[in-house]
Amino acid sequence: MKKKILLLGDIHSNYPALKAVWKYIRPDRFDLIINTGDFTVYSTFPNETIQLFRERKKTICILGNTDRRILRILKGKKLKSPKKKEKRVMYFWTSEKLLPENVAYLKSLPKQTDLTLGSVCIGLFHGTRDDADEELFPDAPEDRFRKLAKNSPYKIHIMGHSHVPYHKVVDGVHFINPGSVGRMFDGDPRASFAILKISSGKIGVEHFRIPYPVKEVVKSLKKNRLPDIYTKMFQIGKKLN
Ligand SMILES: [Fe+2]
Repeated sequence: MKKKILLLGDIHSNYPALKAVWKYIRPDRFDLIINTGDFTVYSTFPNETIQLFRERKKTICILGNTDRRILRILKGKKLKSPKKKEKRVMYFWTSEKLLPENVAYLKSLPKQTDLTLGSVCIGLFHGTRDDADEELFPDAPEDRFRKLAKNSPYKIHIMGHSHVPYHKVVDGVHFINPGSVGRMFDGDPRASFAILKISSGKIGVEHFRIPYPVKEVVKSLKKNRLPDIYTKMFQIGKKLN
């Protein structure tokens, strides 16, 4: 059995970045596309982003924390966090812009899921197996990875949320984060994604960074009079708040 899987995550409504990835990798070459969630918030193209996944077969997607918060707002529930005003502006702006069919799509997605390819069981999480909101960074104590690997039914854990691309093997379990397509934190604004190859039980992972037209995002943020801090964030590829 040979499978080639495209791993994406943390797109954050950055459709120009997603389009650039699409053009670069030609998605039809993949057996499957996996998205670790956070379709929405911080850039201005939530509908275009969701639409692209809605229209495709052979995709497996889960919700991220930003998507879950958007659904809470749309249900009329109180938004306890984030507290920062500029963040809340982005959440409420997104919730107002989302088309009903895209809201329905988000509502149909799980918080986590799993799949089996040949003999390989894969868990898909926004945070971790224990906590959808846990940011698991590659330099977390080895013990944390050991605990997640212990008694895990999965050979591979695919995760998002930390926005840091990595592949780490601990006690025979593969922990993979493709990084963020649309909102990098490491000072390099290029889009991040990964390719997972499984061949007769062998597991290979390759990470990529590719440029995209950041100016399209900047232009749209300005046109919609959204907080300047996000213009800067996308330009420099760093978390600023
Ligand atoms: Fe995220």
